[in-house]
Amino acid sequence: NDMKNAGKCPVMHGGMTHSGETVTDWWPSSLNFDILHQHDAKSNPMGPDFDYREELKKLDVEALRKDVADLMTDSQEWWPADWGHYGGLMIRMAWHSAGSYRLADGRGGGGAGNLRFAPLNSWPDNGNLDKARRLLWPIKKKYGNKVSWADLIILAGTMAYETMGLKTFGFAFGREDIWAPEKDTYWGAEREWLAPSDERYEDVGKPDTMQNPLAAVQMGLIYVNPEGVNGNPDPLKTGEQIRETFARMAMNDEETAALTVGGHTVGKCHGAGDAATLGAEPEGADVESQGFGWLNPNLGGSANKAITSGIEGAWTTEPTKFDDGYLKMLFNHEWQLAKSPAGANQWEPVEIAEEDKPVDATDPSIRHNPIMTDADMAMKMDPTYRAICEKFMADPEYLRDTFARAWFKLTHRDMGPKARYVGPDVPAEDLIWQDPIPAGPTNYDIGAVKREIANSGLPLAELVATAWDSARTYRGSDMRGGANGARIRLAPQKDWVGNEPERLSRVLSVLEPIASKYGASLADTIVLAGNVGVEQAAKAAGHDISVPFAPGRGDATDEMTDHDSFDVLEPLADGYRNWLKADYVVSPEEMLLDRSQLMGITAPEMTVLIGGMRVMGTNHGGTKHGVLTHREGALTTDFFVNLTDMGNKWVPVEGKPYEIRNRKTDEVLWTASRVDLVFGSNSILRSYAEVYAQDDNDEKFVKDFVAAWVKVMNADRFDIA
Ligand code: HEM
Repeated sequence: NDMKNAGKCPVMHGGMTHSGETVTDWWPSSLNFDILHQHDAKSNPMGPDFDYREELKKLDVEALRKDVADLMTDSQEWWPADWGHYGGLMIRMAWHSAGSYRLADGRGGGGAGNLRFAPLNSWPDNGNLDKARRLLWPIKKKYGNKVSWADLIILAGTMAYETMGLKTFGFAFGREDIWAPEKDTYWGAEREWLAPSDERYEDVGKPDTMQNPLAAVQMGLIYVNPEGVNGNPDPLKTGEQIRETFARMAMNDEETAALTVGGHTVGKCHGAGDAATLGAEPEGADVESQGFGWLNPNLGGSANKAITSGIEGAWTTEPTKFDDGYLKMLFNHEWQLAKSPAGANQWEPVEIAEEDKPVDATDPSIRHNPIMTDADMAMKMDPTYRAICEKFMADPEYLRDTFARAWFKLTHRDMGPKARYVGPDVPAEDLIWQDPIPAGPTNYDIGAVKREIANSGLPLAELVATAWDSARTYRGSDMRGGANGARIRLAPQKDWVGNEPERLSRVLSVLEPIASKYGASLADTIVLAGNVGVEQAAKAAGHDISVPFAPGRGDATDEMTDHDSFDVLEPLADGYRNWLKADYVVSPEEMLLDRSQLMGITAPEMTVLIGGMRVMGTNHGGTKHGVLTHREGALTTDFFVNLTDMGNKWVPVEGKPYEIRNRKTDEVLWTASRVDLVFGSNSILRSYAEVYAQDDNDEKFVKDFVAAWVKVMNADRFDIA
């Protein structure tokens, strides 16, 4: 750097746009509210009136499909297509875009076009996918606002299959782009690309000990290392890692095998030379690279010179066709370890007929050995995958159908419910992983239902808590959960400790007959119960209000519920109801932040909701921690007034909640949790708490609380959006 800057003037001010050490660097345990306020209006060039779903209505889907299909064989000199067909590259781009999805927190996935931004644009595993996006640019440019990058990326992979002979299961538009990197997604703690797996596992030998919610074995990978565990070939061990990582994306063994088989039945790996010659990744490259990374200095306009993963070769004899060639190749040959020209571990056939070898990607007069990665070998060596592959071999139609469905799931799972799908190719069939919900009635007597709830004798706190529990499972990461469907009455939800099963079943037994008497769904009735509670609480505080309500939620059934994949929606903590299932490494206030991010709640909304929930007495198990009021059940600002009252002091008690004592008399006035106290201790949250503690903001508090409440209740209403 000294050399580079020799002879230049120092700049004392102006031009230093780096923040230097941030507040979280100075105080690592301070809360990072950025995750709640990312993707805000200021960073979005489209402005507040832009409505992607409206734009999509103007899209000429047929023309777009044709342009994308034509692109596949329109080879460009700056990144020539293997065998004159970009299909393999486009599929890998779509797969890597969708494949970062993980079930545990619903984050990752191809639903937002995050592949355009760091870190994903520069992950080693995403090498040369910048080329694929740049190939698509003329099409994106032409269709403009009418198609998002996120949709175009997934469409390109899907159309690649169509052009290679697979009838796909369908395609839905509707993925809206983000304009800045995501701040909420935890990709691991390692500081180095492809650092050995050991840091994210308790025991690398036990795949299920990988740190949650991670779903890739090493930093910078989508799933597993193609050369073997930590780069050491061993198909059985790699098979175990594939099983675990794909399960973390909600794929079972059959789907996993189908995806791997159907993925590698086309395209090739690239490692035609010394990988050390590659240039920096896009985010690290200098301005003249114009966003391109991994400069291939020896390419010279020749596809067969490209380097990506370092592994070199195709899997099948005809890599531009979707067929069962992969299975035949894998199972009809013996394989031995070899090294690619780039020095990577790969498997090659012990013996193979010349005509079964794929031809060179540039020069059809040359043939090369096909290859298998360690992951491919797992499809043959792992007994479970092997049995599935044998079934596929015996029945190629079964492979096609299983693959087409798995590809659709892979590329659509993070889009949430079917109501969010747009376009002429949306499949009619309902799929269990879409968490289907039937439409609910809208033409019942809402006022009568509310009156009956009010007269039912159910306490206000139980009305509010039940509605809250029903809605709080919503996560914007993959748009699952929420009050619609009333799955709170079904297993596994009805038995979650966080839902207080005994109380829940008592409340539901009162609400169910009311719902059926008036022809309302139970899902609506649960929300109405919450609204009745909030209205009563507001009234007790002297405010006559009516909580806005949108009817039409439906009730899902057991058969519509994928029980296993609902386990991940179970709350482990809920700061809003002042509850922790167990003692966690992560602080309760961090968990509150994470949950609020998933629910789409801002920091001011989080503040007003906590204050309101506390004074209504909605704590889990009826505890009194943080209920800083003498008028429980009234929607007052007491939580904030008493928290910020300097007449009090706040005292930690070993192994117990904090005490809030009168500073003079030492009398214990209340008990409180970390989540309560953080609204007075954290400087940002305190600034919000002070707003609501002010003498002039009673009315604002109730208004803001109701708005935030309605937002939570309606978070999953894509049917009315
Ligand atoms: C290419 C690994 C699963 C689709 C590759 C490459 C590697 C790899 C190392 C070569 C990249 C390059 O050098 O250009 C793996 C591993 C998997 C896996 C370890 C885990 C089981 C999948 C799945 C799909 C898929 C599930 C799609 C459904 C492809 C395609 C290519 C490819 C189409 C060819 C890219 C091209 O032709 O440029 N994969 N893959 N892979 N992969 Fe996978």
